[in-house]
Amino acid sequence: MINFVTGPLFTLSLAVFALGLIFRMVAYVAGLDGKADRIAYRAHTDRSIPGIFASIIKWLIPGGSRGWRAQPVAAVLFFLLHFGAVLVPLFLLGHTVILENSWFGISLPALPADLADLLSILSLVALVLLVVRRIRLAKLRILTTAGDWFILFLTIMPFLTGIVARFELCGNYEGWMLAHVLFGELFLILAPFTKLSHIALFFMSRAQIGMDYAIKRGGAARGGAFPW
Ligand code: HEM
Ligand code: HEM
Repeated sequence: MINFVTGPLFTLSLAVFALGLIFRMVAYVAGLDGKADRIAYRAHTDRSIPGIFASIIKWLIPGGSRGWRAQPVAAVLFFLLHFGAVLVPLFLLGHTVILENSWFGISLPALPADLADLLSILSLVALVLLVVRRIRLAKLRILTTAGDWFILFLTIMPFLTGIVARFELCGNYEGWMLAHVLFGELFLILAPFTKLSHIALFFMSRAQIGMDYAIKRGGAARGGAFPW
């Protein structure tokens, strides 16, 4: 069973994840409409290209955007979640070994084990606190759909099962590992079709907005800086 889920099923889920996200990015660009959005994306590239980088980089820095500064506690939780969410799936030794031995044969460097453990635990704690935040704040609770709860579930399960297996918290290592791989693959397969597609589309929408503000909303006149 483990051989099947870390073999053919792993290849399939990673392929769906990668091709699905590439498709979503291509569809995003193809869907841009100069008339509807009233932005000529091809004009003024001298301003719009720096605008792309300003918009993306400011959101990748804690406190770099007004959105992050306006909600500092939530921003800390988002960053704690994302350090682990981006680094652990890619650079955990257990993962890099499987990736290297898989059909893809890709070799990535591995994180030190203690750092990977710490990042994983911080991500899980941040996820739980983000759930509490969504339940406690009425304005968020009203906006949260069943689909949004499902996204949080999909994200929590690989972390929870990975940590339980790794530290042998509930015995039965193999059972938890099997559950972990299946939840990890479910995450990969559904990501392109859900809001988890923000893994790639975050960069597309920030690039679009960065271009928009740099070309036509006076962003470039602020010396390359943005009001957010
Ligand atoms: C480089 C890649 C990524 C970027 C730039 C990114 C960025 C973001 C941003 C800007 C938000 C919204 C914050 C807000 O509501 O104001 C968000 C939310 C979220 N991200 Fe990511 N993300 C990335 C990768 C990931 C990955 C790999 C995962 C899962 C393993 C993930 C899971 C989540 C979840 C679950 C939320 C919603 C949290 C909530 O419901 O409050 N993200 N991300
Ligand atoms: C898709 C197939 C996946 C496979 C085959 C896989 C495999 C593994 C393996 C072999 C381990 C090591 C367990 C140990 O050290 O005993 C592990 C741990 C872990 N995995 Fe995965 N994984 C997958 C997906 C994911 C995903 C998508 C995430 C997160 C979004 C994730 C997060 C974790 C975490 C947090 C740990 C525990 C790390 C630690 O505490 O140091 N895994 N996984």
